Amino acid sequence: MNALLLLSLCGLVVGAWAQCQCSYMKWAKCDETPCQCTLAVGEAVNQPINCSALVPKCYLMKAEMYRAKKGLSTRSGGKPTEHAFVDNDGIYDPECDNNGNFKAKQCNNTNECWCVNSAGVRRTDKGAKEDINCNELVDTYWVRLELKHNVTSTPLDTAQLKTAIGQAIQSRYGLSASFINNTQYDPDARLIMVDVVKPIGNKNVDLSRVAYYMEKDVKVLPLFTDGKKFQPTVSGQPLNFENIVVYYVDEKPPTFSMKRLTGGIIAVIVVVVVAIAAGLLVLFFAKRKQRAQYEKTQHREMDEMQQSLS
Ligand SMILES: *[C@@H]1O[C@H](CO)[C@@H](O)[C@H](O)[C@H]1NC(C)=O
Ligand SMILES: *[C@@H]1O[C@H](CO)[C@@H](O)[C@H](O)[C@H]1NC(C)=O
Ligand SMILES: *[C@@H]1O[C@H](CO)[C@@H](O)[C@H](O)[C@H]1NC(C)=O
Ligand SMILES: *[C@@H]1O[C@H](CO)[C@@H](O)[C@H](O)[C@H]1NC(C)=O
Repeated sequence: MNALLLLSLCGLVVGAWAQCQCSYMKWAKCDETPCQCTLAVGEAVNQPINCSALVPKCYLMKAEMYRAKKGLSTRSGGKPTEHAFVDNDGIYDPECDNNGNFKAKQCNNTNECWCVNSAGVRRTDKGAKEDINCNELVDTYWVRLELKHNVTSTPLDTAQLKTAIGQAIQSRYGLSASFINNTQYDPDARLIMVDVVKPIGNKNVDLSRVAYYMEKDVKVLPLFTDGKKFQPTVSGQPLNFENIVVYYVDEKPPTFSMKRLTGGIIAVIVVVVVAIAAGLLVLFFAKRKQRAQYEKTQHREMDEMQQSLS
């Protein structure tokens, strides 16, 4: 009788424990009654989080920096518009506001600062703390997710692929498929390009969380507690991914200076320089040929003159 009571008590405790866990964040620690989960983002700094939604990227980055410092885990490792940019900086220790949004100005605990967008990605040059002014947090309203899938045994049907990707994003990240503006597929490159766009001015949807969770899913390990992979099924075939590139488009273009030449611009400059060099070369040889002909005709005329003279 007592054993039965104990068993059911144990069951209750286990049940309560199992219920209070954070499915969206595997690193979270949870306390029951009432169920509240927190994420360690600094020495004795436990950020309460809402486990019914994706965790704000700013908190995730703080947690990652903290964990890297503690040796717990580290981050391993076509543009939609001319203003789109990728995050080449990698991780830093961000400052978040009370809602988990990035503060517009970030310094990574140093005296060198820069301005970020709502995804926490740098959108200005870096500068001394006192020189950098970030008047507002500019919203990222469009992210392009460029996914490269692994080799499949049979070719994928484009229409089914698009549906599967939309469904996977909706069920896994809780983002309505209505935000997926456009999906394109290049079977030869194995590239799937997903444009996620929200109406300009809509501050309720945070595209950076979806992009960050997906980046983790593809590049490192899922942040979800259940550890399941991001693996859409297309015509019964599970799809794996080997890379993802995220482009960010903000409501206002970024203000990087020209010293940050992008690969594209460098390529264009190289092509132009090569073209000019080729042009000069052609001109040079044309001139030489002309001169040679001129000299030849002159010689012939001279010969004729000499002949007529003699
Ligand atoms: C937690 O997130 C859910 C889903 O977005 C939302 O409905 C709920 O209001 C949030 N709870 C709190 C306390 O913010
Ligand atoms: C931020 O600082 C850490 C060292 O504390 C460094 O490892 C990291 O690369 C820095 N990140 C950026 C974006 O400067
Ligand atoms: C997908 O491809 C990458 C790189 O080719 C490989 O490292 C990875 O193991 C593959 N994943 C699966 C699940 O086959
Ligand atoms: C999203 O799609 C609509 C209609 O297809 C199009 O008019 C709009 O330009 C698209 N927005 C972006 C940012 O691509």
